[in-house]
Amino acid sequence: MEQTLSRLDLTLLERLLSGTIFCNNIVYQEITGSTNQVAKRLAEAGAVHGSLVISEEQRAGRGRMGRKWLSAPYRNLLFSVLLRPRLYTKDSFLLTVSMAVSIFDAVLGITGREARIKWPNDIYMEGRKAGGILTELSAQGRMVSWAVVGVGLNVNWTPGGEFASISEIVGRSVNREPLLGEILKRYDYYLEAIGTQKRGEILERYESNSLLKGKEVLIQQGQGAEQGLIKGKALGIDSEGALLVEDNSGQIHRVSFGDVSVVGWENNEEART
Ligand code: BTN
Repeated sequence: MEQTLSRLDLTLLERLLSGTIFCNNIVYQEITGSTNQVAKRLAEAGAVHGSLVISEEQRAGRGRMGRKWLSAPYRNLLFSVLLRPRLYTKDSFLLTVSMAVSIFDAVLGITGREARIKWPNDIYMEGRKAGGILTELSAQGRMVSWAVVGVGLNVNWTPGGEFASISEIVGRSVNREPLLGEILKRYDYYLEAIGTQKRGEILERYESNSLLKGKEVLIQQGQGAEQGLIKGKALGIDSEGALLVEDNSGQIHRVSFGDVSVVGWENNEEART
């Protein structure tokens, strides 16, 4: 398959982003440690709401729970946005939810294929992980002071194994600028909508593309002696973004962190739908 190996066209990207909050401060670093780290430093230095950090290659890309995020140079999307939203910290999950929904919209619009969310932040396509969102926050009292929302999306390259790339699924290489432009245009729109009655629509879209809803799931919380396991049926998320899981006895658990797997999914064709 033909691969896209050139640098991102920043002139094109700026044009695609014009009129959004993301065209005012674009920081492009061909190689960096982690775009989230760069964006957090910008936040501490007073950079504007909507600052966008993009890289072609990360030496210390990270995911949730301290995991590494791997990507090959010039093939995928690696970016972080710095936000200074007027938002209670209890509502900060909406920043991740809105980014997930923006990715669903952009991927569907550009490739005609559905992306799904594995709560809370994994982007899946056809049963395999194609991307992830890492949201990091600084709070002042009950309010978010700043948030960094970082995205790694496998566009034209995947590390293999349980991972997927968009190009592999659609059978052709995918241009990164229109994809990034569309994700951020949608994100600009949803960030505005969070504070309006449209918030419900965002949550509905997140739920309707949920990989877990209705499935038997196993949630692992903590490590070693501290480890806790919850097994049951995923019902959906509550108004604060926690996953609701009903166990065998009918008790409903409110899960706000942990590693989720779908029971009986290994090598199961159902996972590919
Ligand atoms: C996850 O799967 O747990 C989230 C992965 C998020 C990876 C992205 S890549 C761009 C940004 N910089 C990082 O170091 N992490 C995020």
